[in-house]
Amino acid sequence: MSRTVDLHADIGEVLLPEDAIRDKVAELGRQITADYAGRPLTLVSVLKGSLPFMADLMRQIDLPVRIDLMEVSSYGGTSTETSGLVRIIKDLSASIAGEDVLLVEDIIDTGLTLNYLIRYLRGKNPASLKICTLLDKPARRLVEIPVDFRGFEIPDQFVVGYGLDFGERYRNLRFVGVLRPEAYSDAK
Ligand code: IMP
Ligand code: MG
Repeated sequence: MSRTVDLHADIGEVLLPEDAIRDKVAELGRQITADYAGRPLTLVSVLKGSLPFMADLMRQIDLPVRIDLMEVSSYGGTSTETSGLVRIIKDLSASIAGEDVLLVEDIIDTGLTLNYLIRYLRGKNPASLKICTLLDKPARRLVEIPVDFRGFEIPDQFVVGYGLDFGERYRNLRFVGVLRPEAYSDAK
C-alpha cells in the first residue's frame, strides 16, 4: 500500500527558504539583463522541474523575451538518478536558428541531461547558447557543463520543492528542502 505523503513532515531541512530564492532569482535576472544588453532573448526551459524558476526568472529579465518549453525524460535510471539516455517528450515549438538562446534549468546533477540538451540545441544553429541553472550540485558532475548563470551551489543531497520532485510530488513547495530518508524508503 502506498504511504501517505505529508508534504511538510517529509522535509528534514529547509535548504533554501522562499525569500532566499526570490532574492537570487532577482539577482540572476539583473545579471542576464545586463549580459544581453537590450538584445532579444529566447528562454528555453525544460519541464517540469524548471517551471516555477522559469516563471519567476522571466519576470526579472528586462529584455524583449520569447519563451519555449521542452520536456524530456531519461530512459532507465531510478527515481533519484538519471541514466543519461534522454528522450524528448515535447520538442521546441518554433525555430531557434539565429537566436540568442538561454537554457533555463532547475538543477544540474551529473550533467548528463544537460549535456544531451546542449548538443541537441546547438544542432538547431542558435546565434548563441548559454546556460542558467538555479541549483548546481558540482560534487556529482560526470560531464563538464559550461554554466553561465548559477543560482546556488548545493551539497550532494536529494532536494525537492520549487519545481523539484521525488516521485512527482513536492514540486509545489515554495522552498527547496532535503527529504527525510523515510520519505525515500517507503515511497511507492
Ligand atoms: P542530471 O542529468 O544528473 O544532471 O540530472 C538532471 C535532472 O535530474 C534534473 O533536471 C532533475 O529532474 C533530476 N534531479 C537531479 N538531482 C535532483 C534532486 O536533488 N532533486 C530532484 N531532482 C533532481
Ligand atoms: Mg525529476
